[in-house]
Amino acid sequence: MRKPVMAGNWKMNCDNEEAKELADGVTAHAGQVEGALVILCPPATALTTVQSSIANSAIKLGGQNMFWEEDGAFTGELSAKMLLSCGCEYVIIGHSERRGRFGTMDEADADDLAAVFGDTDATVNRKIKSALAAGLKPIACCGELLAERQAGRTDEVVEAQVRAMFDGVSASDAEKMIVAYEPVWAIGTGEVCDADEADRVCGMIRATVADVYSQDLADGMQVLYGGSVKPDNVDGLMAKPDIDGGLVGGASLKADSFAALIESAAQSAQ
Ligand code: PGA
Repeated sequence: MRKPVMAGNWKMNCDNEEAKELADGVTAHAGQVEGALVILCPPATALTTVQSSIANSAIKLGGQNMFWEEDGAFTGELSAKMLLSCGCEYVIIGHSERRGRFGTMDEADADDLAAVFGDTDATVNRKIKSALAAGLKPIACCGELLAERQAGRTDEVVEAQVRAMFDGVSASDAEKMIVAYEPVWAIGTGEVCDADEADRVCGMIRATVADVYSQDLADGMQVLYGGSVKPDNVDGLMAKPDIDGGLVGGASLKADSFAALIESAAQSAQ
C-alpha cells in the first residue's frame, strides 16, 4: 500500500518569524499524524528554523529547488548536500514556476521569468540525478499548460516530461522518488482539476513509470496531484485510486487549512 502524502510548498513566502509560527502551528495540529507522510518545503532561508520546529514530530523537511553541482562558483545556488545539512530529506524539482511555465501571469511576465529560472526537461533530469546521488528524495513535477490542454496535448506533454525526468535513473533510485502532477492552469488559480481527470492523468503517469521500469515499481510510487488543493476539494481527490496525495501551495500557508488536508490524507489510508 502507498502511504498518502501531503506536501506544503511555501514558495517565496515566510520570513523566519512567519516560518516558525506556521511550522509550529502545523506541528501542533498534525505533528504526530502517522497515517500520512507530511512534508514542509519552506524557502531555503527558513529551512533551519522549520527544522527546529518539527524536530520532535513525524513531519519531514524538503527544499524547493537545487542545483546539480556539489559546490563551486555558482552564486546564489544550493546543492543537495547543503539541503541535507539543513535536515532536508526531500526536494521539489522541476516545479512549473522553475520551468518558466506559468498559468496565471500574462505572457510577457511569464517570458521574462522563464528566462530567469529556465528549468528544462534536461536540467530537471540532471537535478534529479544529483539529488538522488546525494541521498535526497526528489518530488519531481510535471504538468501541461492551458493551451496544451485545449489543444488535446495533455497526455503527450506530461508523458514526455515524465520520461525525461527518469532518463538514466536506475530502478533502485526511481523507487525513492515522488511524482507530482500539477496542471499549470490549476496552480494558484482556484481552479482545481476535476478529480476524475486528475486521477486519469496520475494513472497515465503510473502507466508510463510501469513502461519505463516495471509494474511493481509503478504500483509502489506515490503520485501526487497539485493545483488549488483546498480543504473543500481534498476529500474528492484523495478518494481517487491513482492520487496518493497533494502538493499544496496556497492552502499550506495557514496551519489550520493545511492540517485539514493532512487529516484528509491520513483518513484516506483507512
Ligand atoms: P496552489 O499551488 O496549491 O497554490 O495551487 C500548488 C503548487 O504550485 O505546488
